Amino acid sequence: MRARAKRRSNTLSTLFSSIPRSRCTTSGKTSVDIRSHHRSRRCFSGILILTLSYNVYWQIRPREGSQSRCYQKLNNLDRKMMLSAGPQQHGGPTQHASWSPYDNNGGTCVAVAGKDYCVIAADTRMSTGFNILTRDQTKVCKLTDKCLIASAGFRADAITLHKTLQTRGIMYKHSHNKSMSCVAMAQMLSNTLYMKRFFPYYAFNLLGGIDNEGKGAVYTYDAIGSYERTGYSCQGSGQALIMPILDNQLKAVSPLLVPPQDGATPLTQEQAVDLVKDCFATAGERDIYTGDEVEIYVINASGVHKQTQELKLD
Ligand SMILES: *[C@@H]1O[C@H](CO)[C@@H](O)[C@H](O)[C@H]1NC(C)=O
Ligand SMILES: *[C@@H]1O[C@H](CO)[C@@H](O)[C@H](O)[C@H]1NC(C)=O
Repeated sequence: MRARAKRRSNTLSTLFSSIPRSRCTTSGKTSVDIRSHHRSRRCFSGILILTLSYNVYWQIRPREGSQSRCYQKLNNLDRKMMLSAGPQQHGGPTQHASWSPYDNNGGTCVAVAGKDYCVIAADTRMSTGFNILTRDQTKVCKLTDKCLIASAGFRADAITLHKTLQTRGIMYKHSHNKSMSCVAMAQMLSNTLYMKRFFPYYAFNLLGGIDNEGKGAVYTYDAIGSYERTGYSCQGSGQALIMPILDNQLKAVSPLLVPPQDGATPLTQEQAVDLVKDCFATAGERDIYTGDEVEIYVINASGVHKQTQELKLD
């Protein structure tokens, strides 16, 4: 016991051997005074270091479930979506109400890029579960004169995201005396989504516009900012219905080709608008979250042009 205490005090004294002692030895005190002074100082330092390491331990100790909190959030989201999609189960195990910040408001967005134009379209139905909240809620937002964004998913997050992008676009214009290019906006959207990846914007985005060379561009995103430039894409509740039509009618350029090819489709502007109308007509037949009306925006050298097309109301 005593040996261990001796060893500990030795460790402490080696720990603090770097502390200068000159002040004690040069003072006029007797050797007994000096020794007791050393002892009390060492004792004080020992207590200090123990208190500090105890505090540090309580600060950094691993807490239960800390690393899985993000996954829990996503799991809750899945459960919430399953509950709101199907009828309430009776007689089954009780589902405790858990706070969930997300909803899925449905809806579909499609974008097709051509040689010198980009078509971007979205329906105007906004739903939650089996209810239609409104038949007239636009999903498209104009960010600059040559760049539009369309978002499906959770409407509140989409609105927040659009507002953020618009604000930063205006700030860019004030400091550079020119509008942000579509390519720059695409990168900024990715950064904005990735910045919030631990509590993501539950929005699935398509960015469409004209790039610096005047070619049509479509950028497609996941919820946390992974993105790709393509010739055409689709997001939202009708994605599984529309994407096969687009793949069938248009040929995607492989992203593995060297040098990289730009994926613009060979269609004329009128053909692309017709294809988009057909896509929404077929999704409106089978997807309950797509309907009412589709807003089609064409971005070309002469600006942004809007047209609408009726869909089924049921
Ligand atoms: C901003 O750009 C416009 C043309 O795009 C130019 O006429 C104007 O002088 C510029 N302003 C400044 C402060 O550079
Ligand atoms: C742009 O699109 C509009 C609407 O479809 C069309 O009237 C116009 O001619 C187009 N402009 C160019 C330069 O292609």
